[in-house]
This record gives sequence, C-alpha cells and structure tokens, in this order.
Amino acid sequence: DRAIKIAPSILAADFANFGAECAAAEAQGADWIHVDVMDGHFVPNITFGPATCAAIRPHIKGVMDVHLMISPVDAYIDAFAQAGADVLTAHIEAGPHIHRTLQAIRAAGCKAGVALNPGTPASAVEDLMDMVDLVCVMTVNPGFGGQKFIDMTAKIKALRSMIGDRPVHIEIDGGVDPATAPLVAQAGADVLVAGSAVFKGGSVQNPAPYGDNIRAI
Ligand code: DX5
Ligand code: ZN
Repeated sequence: DRAIKIAPSILAADFANFGAECAAAEAQGADWIHVDVMDGHFVPNITFGPATCAAIRPHIKGVMDVHLMISPVDAYIDAFAQAGADVLTAHIEAGPHIHRTLQAIRAAGCKAGVALNPGTPASAVEDLMDMVDLVCVMTVNPGFGGQKFIDMTAKIKALRSMIGDRPVHIEIDGGVDPATAPLVAQAGADVLVAGSAVFKGGSVQNPAPYGDNIRAI
C-alpha cells in the first residue's frame, strides 16, 4: 500500500496528555502515530521508554510506529514489542549488528524498520532489503523536533529503486511540512512523520490543512 500516510510525532505533543493527543490526531486523519524514544546517549536528548509506550497504546486505534533513537537496542526489543509497538525502527548507526537487531525485531512480532541519519548513504542498507518493512530517512539530525529540513531527495530515489517491488515503506522524519512534503512524496516516500507541523504549540490544533495538502499531491 503506497498511499501517503501521515504519522504525527508525539515528540511535539503535550507530554502530560499523550492519550488525548493521540486520539485527537487520529480523529483528524492521522494514519500512524510516531513515537520518538531517545536515550541521551545515541542522541543528545531523553524522552521516554517502554512503560510510556504501553500507557499510550490503548489510546491509539491504528499503527504505533516506534522510532528507537537508543544504543544499544537489542536488550529493549522485547519490552517495546510487549508495549504494543507495531513498527520498531532501529538506527543503522546504533551499533555494529543491525542485521541481528532486525531479525530480533521480526522475531518479537513487529514490523522492522531501519533508520539512516543524514550522513549515512543509501548504500549502507543495501544488504538489508529482505529484512525490513520500512526504511526511515532522517531529514534532520535526530534528537529534537522543530529543526530545519535537510534535502535527502537523491537518497530517497536511490532507496526506492533499491527496494524494487518489495513491500517496503520509505518513511521521512524531520522538518516535514506542507512545503517539504511534496518533495519527499514525489521522490518516493510514502510515510511522512510530522511533529511540529501537526502539534503546533504542544497540542493538536489544526492538522487538517496539512493532511489535505499532502493528499492533494
Ligand atoms: C527527531 C524525531 C522526529 C521529530 C520530528 O529526532 O525523530 O520524529 O519529532 O519533528 P519535526 O516534524 O518537528 O521536525
Ligand atoms: Zn522520529
């Protein structure tokens, strides 16, 4: 299913009201809910872990898309799977054994995603194509919401041709808004993460024009 999906990131939502924020985002057309897990080690910021994911889960009807910005990863996979993650995405830069990590994610019953920082080339994931359900192209350096979009159009196109006819999503994360969304969608992305563009001021205010804009591409 290559239809464009919007995945609001709760990193930009009200941290004291995640349940209501997820429900409001879905009511206004969110396809997936993107959950940013940061450890203060792989990235210079800390958010939350599996217990918070488990608390949010009952408030999400659709896909819970968990983006792990942590290192190491493997010891925590089962905890995030038990917390109800549908998609678990690990960074290729998070350790030397991404292949093992992706195997473990699928073995835990989740869809497996691999994320690439802006400085990592598409070729780094070439040998993983049969092990992933999603490739996440970071269009900011991970760690914070609200950063300026970095153009990764060439990488997205290279990944789309590498994927071929496999059922692998290309997700874009960072600086996605009504101006940048058409660029990444035209390059071949189908899951668009958006934090600050959706949760303006820390709560869902008016994501409808944003969604309409993307679906008008
Ligand atoms: C960044 C996170 C993103 C972030 C995107 O490390 O992975 O998901 O929330 O936020 P915006 O859309 O504000 O760039
Ligand atoms: Zn993210």
